[in-house]
Amino acid sequence: MMIRGRSRRIIFGGDYFPEQWPEATWQEDIRLMKQANVNMVSIGIFSWALLQPDEDTFTFDWLDRVMDLLASNDIDVCLGTATAAQPNWLTRKYDDVLFVGENDQRVAYGSRQTYCVNSPSYRKAVRRLAEEMATHYKDHKALALWHINNEYANKNSMCFCKNCEKAFQRWLQNKYGTIDNLNECWGTIFWSENYRSWDEINTPQMSAGGRNGTKLLDYKRFLSESFFTLYLEEYNVIRSITPQVPITTNFEADWSKFDHYLFRDHLDVASLNLYPDPGNPAAYKWSALRHSMMRSLLQKPFILMEQAPSQVDWYPVNVPKPPGLMRLWSYQALAHGSDSVMFFQWRASKKGAEKYHSAMVPHFGEKSRVFQEVSDLGQELTQLAEIAGSNVDAKVALLLDSDSWWSVDSPYGFGSKSLQNEVFWMSNAQPFPSVLVSYFGELEYYYEAFHALNIPVDVISADYDLSKYKVVVAPLMHMVKTGFKETIEGFVRQGGTFIATYFTGVIDENVGVFLGGYLGPLKDVLGVKVEEYCPLPPGGKNRISFPQAVDGFQNVYQGSIWGEVAHTTTAKPLAYFEDDYYAGSPCFTENRYGQGRAYYIATRPNEDFMRDLIHHLATIHHIEVPVLPAEVELVTRSRETKKFYFYLNHADGERKVKLPQGKYRDLLSGAVCQDTLKLERYGVSILTDV
Ligand code: GLA
Repeated sequence: MMIRGRSRRIIFGGDYFPEQWPEATWQEDIRLMKQANVNMVSIGIFSWALLQPDEDTFTFDWLDRVMDLLASNDIDVCLGTATAAQPNWLTRKYDDVLFVGENDQRVAYGSRQTYCVNSPSYRKAVRRLAEEMATHYKDHKALALWHINNEYANKNSMCFCKNCEKAFQRWLQNKYGTIDNLNECWGTIFWSENYRSWDEINTPQMSAGGRNGTKLLDYKRFLSESFFTLYLEEYNVIRSITPQVPITTNFEADWSKFDHYLFRDHLDVASLNLYPDPGNPAAYKWSALRHSMMRSLLQKPFILMEQAPSQVDWYPVNVPKPPGLMRLWSYQALAHGSDSVMFFQWRASKKGAEKYHSAMVPHFGEKSRVFQEVSDLGQELTQLAEIAGSNVDAKVALLLDSDSWWSVDSPYGFGSKSLQNEVFWMSNAQPFPSVLVSYFGELEYYYEAFHALNIPVDVISADYDLSKYKVVVAPLMHMVKTGFKETIEGFVRQGGTFIATYFTGVIDENVGVFLGGYLGPLKDVLGVKVEEYCPLPPGGKNRISFPQAVDGFQNVYQGSIWGEVAHTTTAKPLAYFEDDYYAGSPCFTENRYGQGRAYYIATRPNEDFMRDLIHHLATIHHIEVPVLPAEVELVTRSRETKKFYFYLNHADGERKVKLPQGKYRDLLSGAVCQDTLKLERYGVSILTDV
């Protein structure tokens, strides 16, 4: 990424909290940063109490000294606005600052992210701090990038305080205009829920089981927008004072808590914090999806803002990254479009909340394995400047729709439902046909099927430009909003392939069910309508059979989780359910529409089906499917005609890759290779055409 005043390079560094250490240690830090080739650090992130010890005092001296020291050593600063951890004096002085949980209890102070997103006192203080900081540092040489707040909604995603309630009422009034309209849209006639005035509407805390799904969803939408407007409080101030400095905020890997697409016109660069579990051999697949989401958000390279040098301290058991894994996962981030490798944190804490978390400089010091691996990586990255700014070119897009997500999974963002937490689930959301259905789980399943074949995928919302994609998949698009029908029909008419899955097109944006056949407005493009849904019991299967041969498919597969009774109108059934009372009902259909095709899949098909489906699509659209050993990942970044092929070996042993015809230069070793590439365990090669 091109940062102010810098030539092209890969950013390397991490979160730096010098306030934890005596100033003598700062000198030592600089020496080690130089040794490790660190070129950017994020500072100030949680230091509000130091920057503003009381309401009318600002003390920047210590931060000035840090900024000056970094500037004189040619290390850029990603400057945190410190607002994710408000000082205790603010909390004690204003009683609206702390968020309120499900049981009307305010959270206690003494940690970070305890603020209520809609607290007027907190917002006012945030604006003021942003203004003071931006004014103070606007001309500082080290200031390269602003880092607003930190991981919005991580701990405080749901608040039920009286300020939120009032703001929610205003939000509803703005949206629905009249209380009658709200009652109509929410269907409050059922169960005597009618509201007579705006101030009767309470926040949707835990009630008896079975609550109004539209109200729950509206509350989630309202809070989602609240996080965005909170971001704007700082963004607007900083932008006006330092228009020349790029702005970011770091997002966590879990996108369930607010709609990230709201931010896209107000971010100069997207930033990701990613903590895959080193104890999970499949973790790289989990990471690949999150990298793709972040790259797709702005459709350009992003910043890997945080990852762990070795273990974290918040999984139940925190295994370290064995030698080589941190390097491999850093290159995986670069492969998928990151222009940086950054860590939490620079020096391991001696005290406080995160002292068991790994760091670039561990408690053991510079003679440690981890610092050695960090420094070696920093050195290697200095050779890769030309990669910065290149991007991944995906021909397949997955649509991510927060409203469908929150309608299917818990709007409270508690992650996937499970049979075990049934009671918890029932008391926290609206009743639903099957806890086995997971919106994000379905999206993940489709992503992994493409990823397993090394086909790059973007993850976008439906209002992005679809014309650059050949295949658009909308897993579990449960809610079909106004305009989506036209978008998809236009895309398919022009020659695109659209894929919809089970339990799609069931509700409109007010959570009202489409009558006369599910798929609702998508019935025309898909050429199918659905009469009944038939969730399968845990472990239950239904066979998917192809009566006639279809290119690339076998005769029989299996589906799980879901079955349906569907009727084709213009679509051609390619495969049918074979079991249960709905045997003979179409399960996989194809509709030719304009120049393109639309497929409907009425179940969760097994992995064999997914593999064959993707090969089928690749043949139709001339998408290349590289042949590689299992657990070797290939991602290509490109800029104009230049291509960078990242080969990443996630396997537990050596792997040999057969290269496509041609000669290649390995950017890391400098060697020229052809025919075969040998990758050590956790090995990485970045090749370019010679
Ligand atoms: C998050 C936070 C960091 C740190 C790490 C630890 O990503 O942003 O401040 O707490 O987790 O893994």
